[in-house]
Amino acid sequence: MRYVQLDTPRPVSRIGLGTWQFGSREWGYGSDYERRAADIVRRALDLGVTLFDTAELYGFGRSERILGAALGDERDRVVVATKILPVFPVAPVVQQRAVASATRLGVRHIDLYQVHQANPVIADTTTMNGMRTLQDLGLVGEVGVSNYSLRRWRFAEAALGRRVLSNQVRYSMIDRGPEEDLLPYAQQAGRIVMAYSPLAQGFLSGRYDADNPPSGAVRRANPYFLPENLERGAPLIAALREVADAHHATPSQIALAYLLRHPNVVAIPGASSVEQVERNVAAADIDLTDTEYAALSTAARAFRPVTGLAAVPKLLRARFGR
Ligand SMILES: NC(=O)c1ccc[n+]([C@@H]2O[C@H](COP(=O)([O-])OP(=O)(O)OC[C@H]3O[C@@H](n4cnc5c(N)ncnc54)[C@H](OP(=O)(O)O)[C@@H]3O)[C@@H](O)[C@H]2O)c1
Repeated sequence: MRYVQLDTPRPVSRIGLGTWQFGSREWGYGSDYERRAADIVRRALDLGVTLFDTAELYGFGRSERILGAALGDERDRVVVATKILPVFPVAPVVQQRAVASATRLGVRHIDLYQVHQANPVIADTTTMNGMRTLQDLGLVGEVGVSNYSLRRWRFAEAALGRRVLSNQVRYSMIDRGPEEDLLPYAQQAGRIVMAYSPLAQGFLSGRYDADNPPSGAVRRANPYFLPENLERGAPLIAALREVADAHHATPSQIALAYLLRHPNVVAIPGASSVEQVERNVAAADIDLTDTEYAALSTAARAFRPVTGLAAVPKLLRARFGR
């Protein structure tokens, strides 16, 4: 495992573990997944993963509970990151929600407390007042944000009067928006871009095609898994496979290695099995050559999926067969 080269109280592994899947029926993993989830966490710990991401929203608190129980005594050795859904994020609410998350996780200290998304109406000044108090009380270590533009990330830092260590955003080979401004800022200011959906929810694994789409409501609502987009993605998957073969690796591992080329990026893939977490961890040690990186970038740029409004009727047709 490799770790972020930044001044943080505990080392932050470049590959973390995302746990939205834990306790969340919408992934369609069935009832025995809860036991597997605990095995996944323990294997991740064995392999040197120190970053575990959850949120009060995931499974309405179940993900936090499952994660906390699976970490057990290791909770104090790793970086536990959770998120507040900022529906009404005034200072007292922020504080009360942090206490509730800490209780579910079984921790006295949340290492990284993130704002799940920017509230369109309430300015970050109020939220960050609550966060500052939580830090002063020692209940929260670092503050983070998620789905923030660069402008709002910087505003949040000004409001907190301290660093907002990380911005957790959708970042994968097919969602490269963060490369424009968030990555340069993170590198210049010593911050972290935490890549969520780094495998595009499994699209980049190459496991799925038009005849074999993934199960679960989350991915049924994801336009990347429309038959048309799975077909359009075939050349990109072929490019991933070619590089993967040269490294005795899998397309998913190469997709993760692509992100980790940027020093201030960490990726938090979710996993449906212990084997997946093992492979995802191993991806941290893959170094792509400049030529490979360039070939992958070209293939990624050439992928033009149907998204946005144009995808809506197709998603409805795929869902309801009309
Ligand atoms: N802040 C936010 O708004 C936000 C939004 C979304 C996610 N997140 C966080 O980011 C984490 C990761 O994102 P995500 O779960 O949406 O997407 P992801 O990590 O891109 O995809 C996870 C899925 O990919 C498949 N997979 C994982 N490792 C694999 C491997 N080695 N080989 C083949 N397939 C593999 C698994 O599904 P199958 O095996 O079923 O194919 C797994 O459930 C979440 O758990 C959550 O913590 C945050």
